[in-house]
Amino acid sequence: MALLARARELEVAGRDIVHMEVGEPDFATPTAIQQAGIQALQEQKTHYTPATGLPALRQAISHYYQSRYGVAVAAERILITPGASGALQLVIALLADAGETVVLTDPGYPCNRNVVQCLAAKPVTVACGIGEQAALDAQLFEQSVAGPVAALLLASPSNPTGDILDLETLAELERWVSGRGGALVVDEIYQGLEYGQASRTVCSLNNPDIYVINSFSKFFGMTGWRVGWLVAPEQTVADLDKLAQNLFLAASTPAQHAALAAFLPDTLDELERRRRIFQQRRDYLRPALEQLGFKMLSVPRGAFYLYADCSAFSDDSMRFCDEMLEQIGVAVTPGVDFGQQQASRRVRFAYTTSLERLQEGIKRLSGYLSGSQ
Ligand SMILES: Cc1ncc(COP(=O)(O)O)c(C=O)c1O
Repeated sequence: MALLARARELEVAGRDIVHMEVGEPDFATPTAIQQAGIQALQEQKTHYTPATGLPALRQAISHYYQSRYGVAVAAERILITPGASGALQLVIALLADAGETVVLTDPGYPCNRNVVQCLAAKPVTVACGIGEQAALDAQLFEQSVAGPVAALLLASPSNPTGDILDLETLAELERWVSGRGGALVVDEIYQGLEYGQASRTVCSLNNPDIYVINSFSKFFGMTGWRVGWLVAPEQTVADLDKLAQNLFLAASTPAQHAALAAFLPDTLDELERRRRIFQQRRDYLRPALEQLGFKMLSVPRGAFYLYADCSAFSDDSMRFCDEMLEQIGVAVTPGVDFGQQQASRRVRFAYTTSLERLQEGIKRLSGYLSGSQ
């Protein structure tokens, strides 16, 4: 965020910045969703919804699980939240009392740790492999984590690696965490943005004890609207309802109405077209960065990130990112945002800008790095 702020500052001062740090799609919210939002406002749909969300939207998400993934998820188990962020707060508040352990991955989404800490629980991060070396198995957690566990939080596809966990691994990890007295929480916010493989959901395991976080932010292109959801075990919904009433009352009402249009066939076609554009960008950027000397830690199969080793150029990724921004106007996120594991040798490239801009970024990097190698 500090880097983004600096990049914006430079832009105001007239510099041209290639943004490869931004964790949100560059595309506009699909037209049908925008129009549904405008209509909701015109029809005065501006009062609170129930804290669990607009019933029609809970139903629409349930249908989406059925039609896209062939899995039955009852609408009563789905709570609408202010983004995945709201779902994360609800689930951690529900599962972890003060001092209890919540297991997270390193690298991982930085806010997870902060939310766990805010709620007075104890984040325990486990250094995980990346890509084919992901080795995210129960044995790793068994060896790395002592004592009882309130929750294990994983993301698939992941930020910052783009890795996808297979369903067998998730089932194994659920057995591990329930053996330690806790619950598995899977953040599927990048669902729909998979490349070279079908989109999946952990709901297909039909394990009613697994919590699933999701959002309209990324695949559906609605970051600023603030709508997400949580799939939770039926017996926890009443407590989650109370927590939602106290934490945020409800997600934005017009935004929830707008989100109903996310599942229209034309919207889904448009989103699929965008997914293919992300894939083209990934397929361009990965080899281009490798040619420059960045070592790719995996072939990301999802999200819109490439997590790379930059040690050919620097052992201080924070400084390296600052210098790239100041000197050539290329904004990239340093690894320290995502954990501690070799973070000073890692950077995250987001392909949330056009192919032309990515090419411009590579051109600038090429000139700059040939001097520093
Ligand atoms: C893994 C992950 N989870 C959750 C979020 C929060 O998303 P939102 O609250 O916009 O749905 C993000 C945002 O970048 C993310 O990368």
